[in-house]
Amino acid sequence: MSNRKLITAALPYANGPVHIGHLAGVYIPADVYARFQRRLGKDVAFICGSDEHGIPITIRAKKEGVSPQDIVDKYHAIIKKSFADLGISFDEYSRTTSPTHYQVSQDFFLTLYNKGKFTEEVSEQYFDEQAKEFLADRYIIGTCPNCGNENAYGDQCEKCGITLSPSELINPKSVLSGNPPILKETKNWYLPLNEYEDFLTEWILEGHKDDWKTNVYGQVKSWLSDGLKPRAMTRDLNWGIPVPLPNAEGKVLYVWFDAPIGYISFTQEWAAKTGKNWKDYWQDPQTELIHFIGKDNIVFHCIIFPAMMKAHGDYILPTNVPAFEFLNLENEKISTSRNWAVWAHEYVEEFPGQQDVLRYALLSSAPETKDNNFTWKDFQTKNNSELVGIFGNFINRVAVLIHKYYGGIIPAGNAEAEELLEIKKSAAEIAQYLENFEIRNSLTALMNLARFGNQYLQIEEPWKTIKVDPKKAAHSLFIGAQIAVALAQLSEPFMPFSSEKLLQMFNVEKMNWEDIETKTILIETGHQINEASLLFSKIEDSTIEFQIQKLENTKEENKKVLTLNPSPKERDLSSKNASESHEELAAQTEILTPVKDEIQFDDFAKIDLRTATIITAEKVDKADKLLKFTVDTGVDIRTVVSGVAESFSPEELIGKQVMILLNLAPRKIRGIESQGMLLLTTKSDGKLTFVTPDEPVENGTIVG
Ligand code: 2FM
Ligand code: ZN
Repeated sequence: MSNRKLITAALPYANGPVHIGHLAGVYIPADVYARFQRRLGKDVAFICGSDEHGIPITIRAKKEGVSPQDIVDKYHAIIKKSFADLGISFDEYSRTTSPTHYQVSQDFFLTLYNKGKFTEEVSEQYFDEQAKEFLADRYIIGTCPNCGNENAYGDQCEKCGITLSPSELINPKSVLSGNPPILKETKNWYLPLNEYEDFLTEWILEGHKDDWKTNVYGQVKSWLSDGLKPRAMTRDLNWGIPVPLPNAEGKVLYVWFDAPIGYISFTQEWAAKTGKNWKDYWQDPQTELIHFIGKDNIVFHCIIFPAMMKAHGDYILPTNVPAFEFLNLENEKISTSRNWAVWAHEYVEEFPGQQDVLRYALLSSAPETKDNNFTWKDFQTKNNSELVGIFGNFINRVAVLIHKYYGGIIPAGNAEAEELLEIKKSAAEIAQYLENFEIRNSLTALMNLARFGNQYLQIEEPWKTIKVDPKKAAHSLFIGAQIAVALAQLSEPFMPFSSEKLLQMFNVEKMNWEDIETKTILIETGHQINEASLLFSKIEDSTIEFQIQKLENTKEENKKVLTLNPSPKERDLSSKNASESHEELAAQTEILTPVKDEIQFDDFAKIDLRTATIITAEKVDKADKLLKFTVDTGVDIRTVVSGVAESFSPEELIGKQVMILLNLAPRKIRGIESQGMLLLTTKSDGKLTFVTPDEPVENGTIVG
């Protein structure tokens, strides 16, 4: 087996922060694998960076009213920090706007061009004459021929779900100017994917039937059996890497052409900094290249990028492409635009020092073979019952008892004891699962060792035998210490922060995986350990309720305000049509929430809406978004909590007349009982604004 591992993780679009779906479906599994390979002593390059081109970026820029460069600068910084905070151990995290990347991508394009690998094709594309821009499918809206929805997109109708092409829309309009687009001829460079069918069939369908995941293999098979078509590798856009040819003004490289080349250019950047030779990683057939991706990226990593690599001729192909399915949140699809997500950067702020809890919870629900679900309750159980109750409890008992009975010095025990075989077995099992990308099973194997340790202590009861059979107690804690150190070593790929603490606690150095599997003992009799400290702590119900309430608030907000369309990671793109229009699907243009079901006057009459005046307003502790108000409702004075802190400062609201839903059942928000709801809407800049009467009226006046 090769000693060199080049591990890549899909480049996240720098059009928003990363959420738990990204983490569970790509980055944490990839990190576990990379860390494990390093512990095996492999020469690892773990490469990633922000994907800063393409429609997702320009749409977000338009939405926020800033330039694409502003967008990528902002989100690249947020994403990079989140990864670092969560211990994702990239050797390089760069970005596709880096000068090296421009150079490498343009050189790659020119190599293919000079080798005659492209075909030039003239096609008719929609063009906005006023904005002077060719329009991606998502930039065209019109009436759906299927259901009559007037806001259907050029690639899909959100209302009935049908896949469309812009020419099928009735009365198509450009979202840039509102004018009907015209069809205009344009020349682009295509990669004739059809010419790579035999190569792909032989390499994947015949060569990787048994070792690639079935979801990956199945998608490739389906694409190939339908036949591939030439695909444009350039686009008429004003954001991207310029096509390096004369007379190619206004044309850029297709984002899916440049993005995967990022893996190569970022390796070059890393190599330049570390004195490595990047070619060892990309051009030596002994190197194993592994792409960690989400299922919506399969076609790009298994068909298009390999065809580009084959056409180029100088590069290796991936050994495996472990693609993960999607993670849902509280049984609903994660959605950036609907804010239905647990954001990595928010988690890090709200759960300081608890990165491993999220890593653990996400790894144990990793969507390996099918979509999976994350719930806050489950997160709490995993922490309280498994990390605190099993793993932490075992470690704590061992460390505390060794301090209590032996002044922190490992007592004597029998190094031939059969319990020690359990350690070797676990190490081998975890390794085998990880080599097969079975991350969940590997985590279970780790936890089983902690379970075994707990049971062992329970049976041995050194706290009892210490009085009657001190030798036995010493042996039990000697074995306990071996298991604890094994856990310290073996947990590193999964929970690096806790592993570090544990190694420190037992005063031992990191070991190579092979040593863990083969050494008779992992910590010597007579070795002095450090003070015991708690690894994990219980997560209280109130913390979980706060998170659930946050999501409830999001739901309320979504009902109240304009909604946005899902972004690319949020959809199931496993079908070919959907994948085909992947980047267009990344749109985040706004549409109105559909009108709710009709209600009767009696339903409306149940609502008690009144005018009220804000008397006091203050921030809520540790809740960036919340303000606590006292309001005079005309009938009483009450407390209301509202998520407006990002739109107003408390001072400016005192004395403001507002409208309040008076008879809403009280709800606890961050431990404060909120007795009603203030009416708000959203301005075009995304900030909230209060619904207020035209002119001051008496508090308590009925609205309706
Ligand atoms: O789907 C996505 O989020 C893409 N930005 C992934 C790119 S992966 C690679 F090819 F660069
Ligand atoms: Zn429709």
